[in-house]
Parts: sequence; structure tokens; C-alpha cells
Amino acid sequence: MLIDHLNRQLRERADQALTRQRRTAESPCAPLQHVSRPGQPARELLAFCSNDYLGLANHPVLTEALAEGARRFGAGSGASHLVSGHSRPHATLEAELAAWMAPTIPNAQALYFCTGYMANLAVVAALAGPGSTVFSDNLNHASLIDGVRLSKAPLQRYAHCDLEALERLLGQCTTPIKLIVTDAVFSMDGDLADLRATLALAERFDAWLVVDDAHGFGVLGPQGQGSLAHFGLHSERLIVMGTLGKAAGVAGAFVAAHPTVIDWLVQTARTYIYTTAAPPAMAHAVSASLALIAGDEGTQRRAQLQRLITQLRTQLAALIAEHPHLGWQLADSATAIQPLIVGENNAALALSAALEAQGMWVPAIRPPTVPVGTARLRIVLSASHTAQDVQRLVDGLSVATQRAARSLHA
Ligand SMILES: Cc1ncc(COP(=O)(O)O)c(C=O)c1O
Repeated sequence: MLIDHLNRQLRERADQALTRQRRTAESPCAPLQHVSRPGQPARELLAFCSNDYLGLANHPVLTEALAEGARRFGAGSGASHLVSGHSRPHATLEAELAAWMAPTIPNAQALYFCTGYMANLAVVAALAGPGSTVFSDNLNHASLIDGVRLSKAPLQRYAHCDLEALERLLGQCTTPIKLIVTDAVFSMDGDLADLRATLALAERFDAWLVVDDAHGFGVLGPQGQGSLAHFGLHSERLIVMGTLGKAAGVAGAFVAAHPTVIDWLVQTARTYIYTTAAPPAMAHAVSASLALIAGDEGTQRRAQLQRLITQLRTQLAALIAEHPHLGWQLADSATAIQPLIVGENNAALALSAALEAQGMWVPAIRPPTVPVGTARLRIVLSASHTAQDVQRLVDGLSVATQRAARSLHA
């Protein structure tokens, strides 16, 4: 009965071109990766899909830090943080992250989580409840949305980046506790929330602002300090979540906030309390990553990423202008996430397949991850790409464009 039911639903998904398939990477995360599909031999693809924005995931300093951390502190933590799993590398990393966030949040303290998903669940569910209201951008990441569900707090969603709508909703709200939650860089669009204006609203309406900086941490702001530093913001009302498996190249996430908020999370956040602490070696490697991000190498890598973003946008804008009939749209993004919106699910899949046929890996993103009718290629750049890599992608898209044009005229 259950299996029949699931098979029916799987067929329905397949009919709508919504089936997702995993590929297996046979080599480390890097622009050139050996990748296999079930039953097929591995092949080398030029990948534009990881969130390894600074190209640190396979950096020798970090792989060595991970190995050294394992030699010194073992492979596993053995228990949750509140039992016996909290070790010296975790404590050191939290102190470093607190110092990292100090220019943004006065007296900041930080808490290290196993994943960003768990950190977002923790923050929203532990801080909001039936007597509070959560205000959430429509395009927020799934983990923030799930955090709201878990909190059982009343939810007010506002249209993507529509701060007039947010202002109206805040003005009508009567609950004493108000939590605005927003991605800093939106993961499927690459655009940046207006954090300055959002914080001004939080201050005016006595609300708290939870910022998910998964895609800004390490990339934006001086020394990669993140999206809030990019805007030069500083406030006690900020609660910041940053992930450490994207630009930082390792794994895990942190929440930085007022000391009382962090204390409350330690006491009550279920995704912090009821899970085994991440291996200490992981925290040790993240500490090494912070040093790289803040140092000269981080600066050079951010500059390289910026050059590639400019190159890609210039070349793609020209390609789209040559082929307006295809209806492709380059998202308005200044970050490493450069979505090419093509519309229909099948069109996005066909474009992704056309690139794969030319040895490139750019995933098609479809609903429910993005709104219906806005299926896209999510092109992601990394500092470890080269100008030639970007040229190859644009040439590949140009070939695909000619094929698409022929099929339109057939
Ligand atoms: C905006 C955003 N928030 C949170 C997460 C979750 O982070 P993690 O992968 O560390 O669980 C992601 C992506 O994975 C994300 O894109």
C-alpha cells in the first residue's frame, strides 16, 4: 500500500520533469571533477555547482588541519555538547567566531552547530513561539521556513525584498516579540537583501533581525567578514547564522548573537542539545579556514571571484541580447550565484544536459526549490575557476543556444 502510493507519486513527479538524481563525485570538490552516474563510467566535468566560493574545500592547509585535528583530538566527539562532546577545538573556534562577529554585534558570542540547517532550526524555534511573530521573506531558505514551522509562532510572509510590505506587517503586529528572518544572499537568485533598511525597520518596530549569511560569510565584506560587514552594520538586535561548509570549505555553521541569546540556545535549542557534537577535527579545520579567509590569500581569492563574476555577467548579457526570442534572463545578482532563468522545467533540464554533453556540470533547479515557471541553471563561480573556464561555459551555452534556436524554427 505505502509502496504503491509512493510509486504513484514518484511517477507524477517524473511526468512533471521533477525527478532528482544524484551524481557521485569520485574526486575532491574542484572545478574539474570526476563524476559518475549509476551504471556509467566516471567522466571529468567542469563544474559550476558547488558553494565552494573561495575554492578552499580541497585546500592543502585545510586537509592538513583536518588530519592534524584527527590525530590530536580523534575521529569523533563521542557525545553531544552538553554531555561530554564539547572539546577544546570547539571552544577555540567559538571564541574566534565571536571575535570575527564583534564588529557587527557588540559583545557577540558564538555557538558552533553541525550544519546550517540545524542552526537555523535552532534559532527560529528557540527564539520564537506562540507569543511572538515571525516575519519571513518569501524566498528564504527551507531551513528558516522549517524553523518557523517548528516554533509554532504565527508567520507573516512578505514578498521577496518588499520592505514596504514588511513595514506594514510590523506596524500591524501586537505581539511583544518580533523576529524578522531573512537570507542575506538568496541562495537560488544570488541577490542581496537590503540589510541596512531591514535593520532600520527592526530598530523602529522593536524587532530582532535574524540574518542567514550562508552565502555571504567569507565572500562579502572586508576580510570576508560577511554581508553585515559589507553594509557596515552594527547592532545588538542582530542574530547571525553563517555556514562553514560553503566559502569556508569545511562543514558546520555558527550562530553569533548577544550573550543572553547564545545562553538561551545552549539551554534550549534542540538541534544543538540532542545531537552528537561535530568531530573536533572539523572545528580545528574551520579555525584554519578562518585564518585563510581573513589573510592575504582570502583577499586574493575574493578578488579573483569578483573578476570572474564580472566576466560571466558581461559575456552572458551579450549572449542573451543576441537571442531574445529564447526568453532567458540573467538574475540581478552581484554575487557568485549567477542564475540563468529559462522558465520551463524541461527547458532547464535540456540546457543542463546540453552543457553536460560538452563536459560541463551546471545543475537545473526546478520547483519546489524555485517558483513554478522560473526553472533555471544555477551557475556558481568559485575563485578556483579560471577566465578560460568561464569562457568555456559561455561558449557551451552559445552552442546550446544555437540548438535551441534550430528546434524553435523546426
Ligand atoms: C541560505 C542557506 N541557509 C542555510 C543552508 C544550510 O546550510 P548547511 O548546508 O550548512 O546545512 C543553506 C544551504 O545549504 C543555504 O543555502
